[in-house]
Amino acid sequence: MSGEVKLVGFLCNWCSYAGADMAGTARMKQPANLRVVRLPCTGRVNPLLVLKAFKSGADGVLVSGCHPGDCHYNEGNYYARRRLELLARMLPVYGIEPERFRYTWVSAAEGARWAQVVAEFTAQVESLGRLDSAAALPEQIFEGRPADE
Ligand code: FES
Repeated sequence: MSGEVKLVGFLCNWCSYAGADMAGTARMKQPANLRVVRLPCTGRVNPLLVLKAFKSGADGVLVSGCHPGDCHYNEGNYYARRRLELLARMLPVYGIEPERFRYTWVSAAEGARWAQVVAEFTAQVESLGRLDSAAALPEQIFEGRPADE
């Protein structure tokens, strides 16, 4: 593994996972810090999943799906974009630098783009170092209760 940061990637099955697979099959060079979670669609990415990944020790989280207009469930990535944009703005509230999170679009034919996205994101998170603060995320967030209860 290059560096010490741990990254989690939530990838939609139809585009980004296939693009990542293409990059791997073609043996494109990319950092090995990222662990992939394969989902049917980015529309399934609840922002709490991202926070849970941070709380569980991820130093950076990447979400990647089909390009706008190409979602296999028509609008899943539009819903994802709205939720994830809000999440990105909320991260500093939890003591997490927004640069530790990224959402993007990579198609099944874009293996080279996938490798580039992973390399750039890994370098960005490495420049920030390990994340300590996320362990302090209150459990109530994940239980749907206000944090001060
Ligand atoms: Fe890929 Fe919806 S199926 S983002």
